[in-house]
Amino acid sequence: MRRKLAAGNWKMNGLLGDLAQLDQLAKAPLPPQIDTLICPPATLIHPAIAQTRGSALAIGAQDCHAQSAGAFTGDISALQLRDLGASAAILGHSERREGHGESDQLVAAKAHAAQAAGLCAIICLGETLAQRQAGDTLQVIGAQFAGSVPATLDPALLVLAYEPVWAIGSGLIPTLPQIAEVHSALRTALEARFGAEAAHTVRLLYGGSVKPDNAAEVFGVADVDGALVGGASLNAQDFSAIVQALAAA
Ligand code: PGA
Repeated sequence: MRRKLAAGNWKMNGLLGDLAQLDQLAKAPLPPQIDTLICPPATLIHPAIAQTRGSALAIGAQDCHAQSAGAFTGDISALQLRDLGASAAILGHSERREGHGESDQLVAAKAHAAQAAGLCAIICLGETLAQRQAGDTLQVIGAQFAGSVPATLDPALLVLAYEPVWAIGSGLIPTLPQIAEVHSALRTALEARFGAEAAHTVRLLYGGSVKPDNAAEVFGVADVDGALVGGASLNAQDFSAIVQALAAA
């Protein structure tokens, strides 16, 4: 049985003072049957880990470089993140694919680097609104999967997040059958890539406007093993409600 995962992506939000949100989260008893992860901005990873030490709340990163060290001004390697105590890295988020021109090939290279450092690679995939309206969703997701999730990755350190670009930060979410269709296609793709047994250990998250008021219905969809939460993860009360909904699902 896959352990469910509630992951929060703070994006470029949060100053030292906002770490108080983590205290609130870590103090409320986190449901032991699921995993809970917050990915704050890189500047807060170290203090967040220090602050949550001893709690069940894991801390991750939002990106990493594909190389382990070198002349890459401003970048951070997976090894450096692991050195701080981070346990995961979100990779290939649409805000990086679009805003930083990240290709499937680069996302795959980053995923290898993350796993080599012992981090869980959370690889994001998702279609734009135009692609969905054109009926190309499964084709787009299939192509992203083919390029970003090579067979050389370790399924034991892999999570996929289906994040429709048009649902991120918009308050819109796909219909439940639309989420089910993509998650089922991803499970089938994982089976073809890694074999049935390993494929069934990989968690599939849904991400894009997950809120306390829609979490329970999203978590009821087959093959949804959790969520990648942006805006609602910035508020401990909202994120707690999503965590509790997942634990109850
Ligand atoms: P959102 O972001 O929950 O604010 O829509 C999700 C994400 O980008 O991971």
